[in-house]
Amino acid sequence: MNIREAIKNRRSIRRFQDKALTAEEVDILCEAVMWAPSAGNLQSRRFYFVLNPDLKKRIATVCLGQMFIASAPLVVVACADYERIRPYRDRGKNLYAIQDVACAVENLMLQAHELGLGSVCVGAFDEDALSGALNLPSTQRPLTVVPVGHPAQKPEAPERYPMEEIVTILK
Ligand SMILES: Cc1cc2nc3c(=O)[nH]c(=O)nc-3n(C[C@H](O)[C@H](O)[C@H](O)COP(=O)(O)O)c2cc1C
Repeated sequence: MNIREAIKNRRSIRRFQDKALTAEEVDILCEAVMWAPSAGNLQSRRFYFVLNPDLKKRIATVCLGQMFIASAPLVVVACADYERIRPYRDRGKNLYAIQDVACAVENLMLQAHELGLGSVCVGAFDEDALSGALNLPSTQRPLTVVPVGHPAQKPEAPERYPMEEIVTILK
């Protein structure tokens, strides 16, 4: 699969087969988040790769009851690390740390897709409850939850705006 195909054919997957990931697959996904770009290479992000069934259920519950999350063999919680981004002060905290996490989450989803796995970026959750479930330090803010597993559905591509409403080419 080339990158163009991966980008165009990745879909949000919300139904998963009851099949664990291999240790190698998990390693490859860890690598994918690690090698994403980051502001000043400060890597102001932390990832929790959750395999524990009870914890996955708690995470699904605090994601406003999106219980399909608990059915994924792996649930990744992506957090901004405000300690690491401190040199960039307010702009670092309010922008770069979030961008650092977003870049890594896209890597994660595309890498999962290349491995034949499905995932979805989940942003709807009770932040305090999620921090509590993972016992996060106050320097870390959970930004995205990404369940990953073998897909049990093949959704159609949702429409996008026409290219000219998204991209302006300035000559
Ligand atoms: C920031 C963000 C938050 C999202 N939150 C949720 C969510 O809470 N639950 C969910 O099922 N999908 C969520 N999605 C997935 C979107 O619904 C999905 O990406 C969009 O419909 C386009 O579909 P596609 O990913 O298959 O191209 C989120 C996506 C993003 C980027």
